Amino acid sequence: MKHSHDRQKVKQRIKITRRQRKQRGWSRRRFLLVGLTAAGTVVSVFAARPIMWVGQYVQASLEPHRDFSVQGDTPLRERAAAKGLLYGGSVHQRYLTEDVPFTQQFIRECNVLVPETQMKWFRIHPDVDRYDFSGADWLVNFAQQHKMRVRGHTLVWHHSVPTWLKQTLTRRNAEQIMVDHIQTVMKRYRGKIHSWDVVNEALDPNLRRSDGLRETLWLQSLGDSYLDIAYRAAAEADPDTMLVYNDFGLEDNSFRQSGKRQALLNLLKRWRDRNVPVHAVGIQAHWRAWENFFDPQQFRNFLKEIAAMDYKILITEFDVDDFSLPTNAQFRDRVIASLYEDFFSVVLQEPAVCGVLTWGLSDRYTWLLTEGRRGRKVTPRPLPLDDQLGRKLAWNALARSFDQTFKR
Ligand code: G3I
Repeated sequence: MKHSHDRQKVKQRIKITRRQRKQRGWSRRRFLLVGLTAAGTVVSVFAARPIMWVGQYVQASLEPHRDFSVQGDTPLRERAAAKGLLYGGSVHQRYLTEDVPFTQQFIRECNVLVPETQMKWFRIHPDVDRYDFSGADWLVNFAQQHKMRVRGHTLVWHHSVPTWLKQTLTRRNAEQIMVDHIQTVMKRYRGKIHSWDVVNEALDPNLRRSDGLRETLWLQSLGDSYLDIAYRAAAEADPDTMLVYNDFGLEDNSFRQSGKRQALLNLLKRWRDRNVPVHAVGIQAHWRAWENFFDPQQFRNFLKEIAAMDYKILITEFDVDDFSLPTNAQFRDRVIASLYEDFFSVVLQEPAVCGVLTWGLSDRYTWLLTEGRRGRKVTPRPLPLDDQLGRKLAWNALARSFDQTFKR
């Protein structure tokens, strides 16, 4: 009796294990299937993305209302000034000493100038006990002669610092070195600078820290207090200039950059709470035409949030990299102009915006010719004037945006 009962029990157990195995096999298969489908979707979405965006701009460039027509040939500086705005570009001293036609265009179009490297630490403070103001002095004088404002760029950055600084900086001496540098440079140009990019690019696009701060030589030596120290030192050195925090990627709605906007808003709030003298946000806005993740509504709200905390806003380094767009120049120009107008029509709705700068003026001189040159099939066309100094559709797009905005 006992024997047959045991045999039945064993049979039952075998049945259960088979069923369990079957079930497990099913879920494994299902898991594989679901996994593969998800992976496939992700891959296809990401692979299709650039194509989608290019497609979007092919359509944009063919839209009939996008004629980019402009009334008259009034230069950008006057169109901007008529609305209480500044327009200008970055420039190297060499372009203005060696290239007369370019210089004429620069004077004609710009009412604000920003030295592209001459005020950076590696140029202006090349040795521990030596400053070299020659380039910066020259550019400030040039601007004054031609009734242009000057933006100071930049005092505290992790990039373009001289080797001596990297070798010398310690926790003990960092504050003194940074404050001395800020005050020496700012006092020299006191009363002559419209706005200073005191700190540049302090936020990390990869958001490794919860506060979003980038690991820099300054953060390592002074902790997050380096930001407050820098702005307080700057306000002491020149109490009348506009003190700006400048960064890139803030208009980019991609997953990679979206956290950066929130990190900046947190920083701005922190500065307000502690009465740190920061007056404006500089939005660099270096665009890439082939992966444009701009969301107009979201960006508009972001600008409103900055303005609500009583900060001014400047677009400081706009340009559009057309790398990997089709090679046809006319096509590129239409796409680029569409992006200019998409962006500036939103930017200039915000009353707190007080100026717009492009990173250069003519395609003859753009940082994209040197940096990021690898793999380019054709020369880039990121700026309002082409390399022959002719006005492009991007120029029209900017002119139209100035014409259509209200007076500040
Ligand atoms: O002047 C030297 C020259 O003597 C030397 O032969 C040559 C060799 O590479 O280098 C020349 O200096 C270069 C300088 O530009 C002038 O062209 C530096 O190496 C180069 O690093 C420097 O690049 C600048 C870069 O910032 C770094 O400072 C770019 O011109 C400038 O457009 C770029 O600007 C930055 C903004 O400051 C911050 N936002 C992003 C923007 C674009 O990267």
